[in-house]
Amino acid sequence: MHSLPQPATLPVSGHLQRWGAQPLSLLHEGAALSLDTGKTFALRLGLPAVVGYSPEWNRRLLTDLDTFRSAGSFSAVVPYLAGGVILTDAGHRERRGAVNPPFGKRSMESLRERVRAALRAEKPDATFDALAWADRAVLRMLNAAYFSSDLDAHLLHDFLAPLRSPFPVPAIPRPLLFARMNRALDELARQRLTQGGDDLLFHLARWPGGVREARISLAAGHDTTTHTLAWAVWHLAEHPEWFREDGLKSVIKETLRLYPPGWMGSRRLSRDVQWQGHTVPKGALALYSPYLSARDPQLWDAPEAFKPERWEHNPPAWAYLPFGGGERLCLGMHLANLMLEEALAYLLEVAPGLRALRGDPTPRPGVTLGPAGPLMVRLSPVPTPRTSGGATPVP
Ligand code: HEM
Repeated sequence: MHSLPQPATLPVSGHLQRWGAQPLSLLHEGAALSLDTGKTFALRLGLPAVVGYSPEWNRRLLTDLDTFRSAGSFSAVVPYLAGGVILTDAGHRERRGAVNPPFGKRSMESLRERVRAALRAEKPDATFDALAWADRAVLRMLNAAYFSSDLDAHLLHDFLAPLRSPFPVPAIPRPLLFARMNRALDELARQRLTQGGDDLLFHLARWPGGVREARISLAAGHDTTTHTLAWAVWHLAEHPEWFREDGLKSVIKETLRLYPPGWMGSRRLSRDVQWQGHTVPKGALALYSPYLSARDPQLWDAPEAFKPERWEHNPPAWAYLPFGGGERLCLGMHLANLMLEEALAYLLEVAPGLRALRGDPTPRPGVTLGPAGPLMVRLSPVPTPRTSGGATPVP
């Protein structure tokens, strides 16, 4: 492990300070150092850590759940994710088996109309900030899918808002807020159990632990989907030739390739691991990076370019992981795709033209990767020609 390439360190803090301030530049530096030597590099983050971004590493980490454990990973510092399937190791398969059915692809069809109707309450102005709109639209859609829009919208907003702030805000325990949210969810769950229903809560409430899983998965699904939607709108506004019904799925995939909200996944090793002639010790952090894997110049043509047309072909195996992979594949993948497709289709219905005005799309890594914002765009009643020019950067 000591002989793995390492980005430049600072005295005493190792890589911790750079990780806190500019993790993407640290990742880019490590990736460049190891591009031709196994795509694995070491970091000193208080604990020894190994970052890999080759398909082989991704497959190993995501399929060997006994060795690559979630407990003790970075997710464990966010109270929003505690106690759910995300951080479960022993019994993970059974728990996923219980919680999977309402999130399956076919179950989504019963939610589609409700999600569509919820969007109508978020009609954007002709000029709007895509990031702020995405935030409101995703809250509405989640409320519709989970609770038939019966949950107090202010409570849902307040509960999820800290997740969008930089660290350490999302890591601060909030017992009173969580207690309010739990009470509201328990009350709604009781109603579903006595009166029936067909939203996600109705299905989850019937399983012990299901209500808590609803709360935790809301946290996992909120800013991830919001950021993807905001970036997709921005890219559409900059590439208006893709603002058409048959282009939206490719735009979503390409947005998730360039800006995977889950830019970094982490695990802890339950035993020593041999990797490319190195011993990675038990207890070390093992990281995979959907962000680096999807920008590997040896696997992707023009990886830094936004090219939805690349989705005419399948991506390289284990190199496109915006939703993770293996048994821990994102529980909400189909729900996220449903919300993204419906929200973009709704914008198209509101107006066929979209143009980027000004904004700051610089990626800001927090719990998830998001654009700095704002992202000001304009809808117009006629399709926008490609030659309309790019956006003005925010000074
Ligand atoms: C564009 C939106 C989303 C993205 C990019 C995303 C990304 C991811 C990723 C990368 C993982 C795997 C993490 C790892 O390997 O450590 C994951 C897991 C998870 N996601 Fe999502 N997610 C999204 C939306 C959602 C939604 C809407 C939900 C709501 C149900 C959700 C719930 C979960 C849960 C519960 C897990 C843990 C699964 C497990 O460990 O078995 N996600 N997500």
